[in-house]
Amino acid sequence: MATIDAGELERLRVAAMEVAARAYAPYSKFYVGAALLFDDGSVFTGCNVENVSYGLTSCAERNALFRAISERGAGPKIVAVAVANRNGAPCPPCGACRQVMSEFAAPDAVVTFPGEGAWETRPFAEIFPVSFSFEPQDEAR
Ligand code: THU
Repeated sequence: MATIDAGELERLRVAAMEVAARAYAPYSKFYVGAALLFDDGSVFTGCNVENVSYGLTSCAERNALFRAISERGAGPKIVAVAVANRNGAPCPPCGACRQVMSEFAAPDAVVTFPGEGAWETRPFAEIFPVSFSFEPQDEAR
């Protein structure tokens, strides 16, 4: 696991909880926030933004990541992810967000999230061990 100190993880959890207050979740009423720490020391946060179509909802983790990339490019790697919610519920990142974050995660990145009763902190590689990946080629067919 990456050597992220406990204070840093706690700051990320607080940031995730704060941004969750701005979640737009009138349909599920599940208010999620995410805070991503990158290897350049930057932190970006995001909340879930739902849509009346339901399917076009965008999760907190992906919103945080896309915000980071939009503001300063895709170079820095994620070293820690905190996910929080204002519903007091267990909330590991969903599978879609794991796949998307895996493309920008350092090999030793960690994820902290509310588990059953207590916060859990795990290596990203443990919660998403086999990501989809391929090398684009010029001639596919
Ligand atoms: N949600 C997230 O923001 N992140 C996750 O990892 C899981 C789910 C949001 C999507 C939706 O707005 C609400 O939580 C209920 O699924």
